Amino acid sequence: MKDKAYFTCSECGHKEPRWLGRCPECGAWNSMEEIKVSGEKTGNIHSHEKIPVPLVSLDIEKESRFDSGIEELNRVLGGGIMKGSTVLVGGEPGIGKSTLMLQLASTIKTKGKILYITGEESLKQVKLRSLRIHSESDKIEVFCETGLSVIIHAIEQIKPVLIIIDSIQTIYSPDTGSIPGTPTQVKLCTYELNDYAKLRSAALFLIGHVTKEGLIAGPKVIEHLVDTVLYFDQAESDIRILRATKNRFGPTHELGLFKMTETGLVQVTDPGSYFLEHRDRTPPAGITAVPVFEGTRVLMVEIQSLVVPAKSGISRVFSDKIDSRRVSRLAAVLEKHLKIPLSDADIYVNIAGGFKVSEVGIDLAICLSLYSAKTDLVLPPRTAVFGEVSLAGEIRAVPHMERRLKSAMDMGFNQVYGPIIKEGNHEYFEGYHEYSLLNEAVRAVFLEQVKEENEL
Ligand code: TYD
Ligand code: MG
Repeated sequence: MKDKAYFTCSECGHKEPRWLGRCPECGAWNSMEEIKVSGEKTGNIHSHEKIPVPLVSLDIEKESRFDSGIEELNRVLGGGIMKGSTVLVGGEPGIGKSTLMLQLASTIKTKGKILYITGEESLKQVKLRSLRIHSESDKIEVFCETGLSVIIHAIEQIKPVLIIIDSIQTIYSPDTGSIPGTPTQVKLCTYELNDYAKLRSAALFLIGHVTKEGLIAGPKVIEHLVDTVLYFDQAESDIRILRATKNRFGPTHELGLFKMTETGLVQVTDPGSYFLEHRDRTPPAGITAVPVFEGTRVLMVEIQSLVVPAKSGISRVFSDKIDSRRVSRLAAVLEKHLKIPLSDADIYVNIAGGFKVSEVGIDLAICLSLYSAKTDLVLPPRTAVFGEVSLAGEIRAVPHMERRLKSAMDMGFNQVYGPIIKEGNHEYFEGYHEYSLLNEAVRAVFLEQVKEENEL
């Protein structure tokens, strides 16, 4: 068969049959690279090995997942590592991706081999890390290599059940241009490794650095090629959060929590009140505690607000842990339904511990926190709130209300304000105050306090 050639943009992956000075897709200059494809290689590389099969004939193995030996990782993946799946582990340099993967290599429950490809560090560096975190196992084979074909050859020789590529941005195939880390390289290498891993039912973990510059391909370009995408992120506290943003084999709302120690990552298995500031006295104005439902666990987090006169004459919202449009919307609801002026104020909202929250259950807590910050009235001690707030100023029910209530009370919050709970276990209801309207809840939380002060 005749060899073919085409040109592909190293920035966006756009293909053209001829060379162009500027990519018509993304507008990058001098980014077109020639790709030669030999006759036999067109189409699927392993097309001769794959044929369609009747759906009814498929027999799903009972033991289709590996236990990673790390509970927090199992949970984020949806109950362990699916055999034959490809998982992308993204995160900024230094967050702990290599450490997590090396720990996984020694804790995974399997009799098979593990192949750890390091394209970034020397064998000595990997050895030193493994000694530091006590992750040594005779099942782990380490290979310091960046050439795709050599790696694939090693996979064929060793037949590992788990392949770790650290990192996908360093892997290189001469088939597609000369620089590793371009979108085309990253995509092609992912595609081929994926194919080999799937064929052998091995689990493939690809480490991908998240870089701020657009020039080097970030993990985004391969998200659609993999089964699961995990991002490793650091909260402002020393906690590191692992989240799935895509998962073909499980949920995407679970969080895995870890702490980096002198001897590697340690799981934080009971994070209930981890994100709370522990205070002996009544919290200052602007502070509200809220039980947040993350995956299958309730975490107590603290919302902090500051409301000051607008510096520029135009009201602005500064909130990077909660969507600032949500904060603006709730500020508008407060202004309309409680007649407190916020449109001439700069509003700062934060979540203690640097936790990002997107669920609606924190609406009422944001409202009370803003109200408290604006009026300088404080919430009574050991008070927690939860619930969604509508544009009409109603408090709406949210999922898992009883679990939130129970968790808050178990953590020492004896007064909880929230939506009306129609039925359920009344054991925890003694300190629970149900409201259907925001202004009633605000009055109950703060104005009683004013009345008491006046009576003294
Ligand atoms: P690393 O896993 O190399 O991060 P990544 O692969 O995401 O770039 O870990 C990075 C940081 O963690 C590094 O600054 C050193 C620190 N660290 C510890 O504090 N304790 C340890 O046991 C290890 C292995 C690393
Ligand atoms: Mg690393």
